[in-house]
Amino acid sequence: MSVWAVLAAAGRGERLGDDRPKAFARLGDLPLLAEPLRRLDESDWVERIVIAAPPDWEEPCILVAEELGAGKVASVVTGGETRTASVRAALAAVGDDASVVLVHDAARPLLPEEVVERVLAPLSEGYDGVVPALPVPDTIKRVRRNEVVETLDREGLVAAQTPQAFLPDSLRRALADTAVSVSDCAAAVEASGGRVIWVEGDPRLVKVTGPADLELVASWL
Ligand code: CTP
Ligand code: MG
Repeated sequence: MSVWAVLAAAGRGERLGDDRPKAFARLGDLPLLAEPLRRLDESDWVERIVIAAPPDWEEPCILVAEELGAGKVASVVTGGETRTASVRAALAAVGDDASVVLVHDAARPLLPEEVVERVLAPLSEGYDGVVPALPVPDTIKRVRRNEVVETLDREGLVAAQTPQAFLPDSLRRALADTAVSVSDCAAAVEASGGRVIWVEGDPRLVKVTGPADLELVASWL
């Protein structure tokens, strides 16, 4: 199995509100990006890594990789306007030898090796994609402005995380139409008729969205 990881790091981080892209927000002494990159590089499962960098931040990404000695980084590509566009750009740099593409958000720095292992396992059982997810603890409501329109049944709902694992052809097919823009890659694979399964995620895979998340993740480091 030749696993190529795509690290989606090209977002602006508007909700974090820093003066730089979220991937370069400080986490401890290093830019946020360094933590997930190091973990992917040290993973026993991952062979090569492609980073989608924020426009004009390609060089700093390369420097972070060099400082970490992350020898698995095959290339750094310029990300796009949306996460989907960034993953699409990175996928173009994934080698033909890849038998699995693992897509991970740089905004989820605390990547446990067990989760990498869990998402890879079902791909040999006929699935196109595997998503780590957690049951939803809160009651989820559909709203329109300040009005509650509907309360969803929490049973049967899970919150999707990354890393998500895909068969390269299935992901390529799902993202081939450049009009496709979805909040996670699995949604594109589902929409193109692929079979997607979920496995248990991990609370440590919390996504850094606002400043409080960054503090939480820093405290867990
Ligand atoms: N991402 C990306 N390219 C984009 C947008 C997002 O690679 N054009 C990546 C982010 O870098 C992040 C992940 O997708 O690792 C999840 O996105 P999100 O948490 O929404 O990050 P941002 O888009 O950077 O944050 P915001 O929405 O607050 O601007
Ligand atoms: Mg975003």
